[in-house]
Amino acid sequence: MQARGPLMIEHRLIERMIGVIKDAIKQIEKTNQVDPVFIDTAVDFIRMYADRTHHGKEEDILFRDLKKKPMSADDRRLMDELIADHVFGRQNTKELIDANTRYRNGDKSALPIIVSTLSTLVDFYPKHIQKEDKVFFPAFRAYLTEGEDQEMLEEFLEFDRKMIHEKYLRVVESYEKQ
Ligand SMILES: [Fe+2]
Ligand SMILES: [Fe+2]
Repeated sequence: MQARGPLMIEHRLIERMIGVIKDAIKQIEKTNQVDPVFIDTAVDFIRMYADRTHHGKEEDILFRDLKKKPMSADDRRLMDELIADHVFGRQNTKELIDANTRYRNGDKSALPIIVSTLSTLVDFYPKHIQKEDKVFFPAFRAYLTEGEDQEMLEEFLEFDRKMIHEKYLRVVESYEKQ
């Protein structure tokens, strides 16, 4: 498998979650209410899977290594755009979390913000995946030797190996702080 393999497999699961969120938006609009626990679950998926596990490999390993390579101006611009998308996604998630907290505490005026932040996610994220799958991933392969690509794949798998431990360490630490 090439290094981009796990990243593309993760894209497919993220797309499925986007589908789940799309259905949830329709349901929220129809019933004018939301289950805050569903939002917690969606946020956990976005933060732990899409951001920490997936963007973590892109930013901490792939982009880190590519920054050392003599990339074309177009590829470098695209990489900066992908990084900016990740930052934008984090900001959007923060707004979703804040709105969900307000909603849970009885503030119904937070519902439109929940809908708009979820809609922002389902609108922008498939485009982000498209840019990576169709343009950036095929382009980056040209900057790596076969050996470098396989080393990167190994590092991706090692990164994943630690993730479940990191997640539950965070759970315990968050309760210990309370
Ligand atoms: Fe990305
Ligand atoms: Fe990605």
